[in-house]
Amino acid sequence: MFGGCFEDKRVLVTGVTGFKGSWLALWLLKLGAKVLGLANGIPTDPSHFAAVELSKSIDYVCVDVRDLDSLVPLVKDFAPDFLFHLAAQAVVKESLDNPFLTFSTNTIGTAAVLESLRQSNASCCAVIITSDKCYENNEWVWGYREEDRLGGKDPYSASKAAAEQVISAFHRSFFASSAVVRICSARAGNVIGGGDWAESRIVPDAIKAWSQRQAVKVRNPNTTRPWQHVLEPLSGYLRLAQVLYRDCSYAGRSYNFGPRFDENLTVLSLIEELSKYWNFSLEHQRYCTVAQPSNHEAALLRLNCDRALLELNWTPVLDVSKAAQLTATWYNGFYNANGASLRDLSEAQLEEYVKNARERGQLWTS
Ligand SMILES: NC(=O)c1ccc[n+]([C@@H]2O[C@H](COP(=O)([O-])OP(=O)(O)OC[C@H]3O[C@@H](n4cnc5c(N)ncnc54)[C@H](O)[C@@H]3O)[C@@H](O)[C@H]2O)c1
Repeated sequence: MFGGCFEDKRVLVTGVTGFKGSWLALWLLKLGAKVLGLANGIPTDPSHFAAVELSKSIDYVCVDVRDLDSLVPLVKDFAPDFLFHLAAQAVVKESLDNPFLTFSTNTIGTAAVLESLRQSNASCCAVIITSDKCYENNEWVWGYREEDRLGGKDPYSASKAAAEQVISAFHRSFFASSAVVRICSARAGNVIGGGDWAESRIVPDAIKAWSQRQAVKVRNPNTTRPWQHVLEPLSGYLRLAQVLYRDCSYAGRSYNFGPRFDENLTVLSLIEELSKYWNFSLEHQRYCTVAQPSNHEAALLRLNCDRALLELNWTPVLDVSKAAQLTATWYNGFYNANGASLRDLSEAQLEEYVKNARERGQLWTS
């Protein structure tokens, strides 16, 4: 899919033990990269990272992303050709309980990663992952564009908006003139897929409940989000890195990666879609709605992804139904594996995604 761009390249993935980082590392291995993964431990048990036995195929270092004294020599020694920064405190609810941890991890952690690139001053193309929540949310019915105002009323969203400012300042102050270090930011929406067990996310909550024959408690049934399969934004991040590697004029830009505009679903519709692919007994109640006392989350969030289409030739490949099917199939494999390899299952889903992408013309040889 990426014209051999990552073959034999050294790639540093921060947040490698997380949901998205572990899928990204698996994909990079398939593309022939030499992956060094960094994280401050494995955030959940179970985890996709452990389920696919990633530590057997990549080098993994346990480092706090805010620890600049460890990060600088690590980046200098490894001299990555590419860096994908995904390490973060990634849960909105946790950010309300632990705002300081969230700001220090997401904002100062991003500054530490960029400072380590600045100090190493070696060629590197870096994609820094923030979030669709970095935009000041006005509950608009249209999608946010990359030049729209940044902001956020909860600490998670604000920490990602602040990370965007850090990225912009590092680019304009240190990296733009020489193009040795090239950075871009990537803003994706809520992702679903096999192997996520993070707290307070609707798909892991549903799967945890259903695997124990319970109904999932839905707090915000009518909240709308740009859900997409985890491999969709990852293909966008890889495509962005490829373009950045070939052409330094892309450096300093930001890109949204989201589903097609008509694919924004409410939480309840997503649960209904997912439940089609789960084996329920007849009496099993799928969900129940519960009151949410104070709601800090925006009800409506859409992304405009025209820039990714026009400049990167990137579009989403799967509809929500297919994304839900892949997700439920993966968890069915996990809970009823009967000894089948989850690494094989993840790799098969990756191959299926790439096949679908190729059929839609997403073959980026240059
Ligand atoms: N999952 C989503 O729906 C979603 C949506 C938009 C953006 N994002 C962003 O994508 C990125 C990855 O998200 P995810 O869902 O994989 O998150 P996750 O919670 O599954 O993983 C987070 C990763 O960051 C690591 N980490 C956390 N604090 C760290 C620290 N101080 N030092 C080093 N490592 C640390 C964890 O160990 C883990 O590897 C994050 O930046 C997140 O904000 C996620």
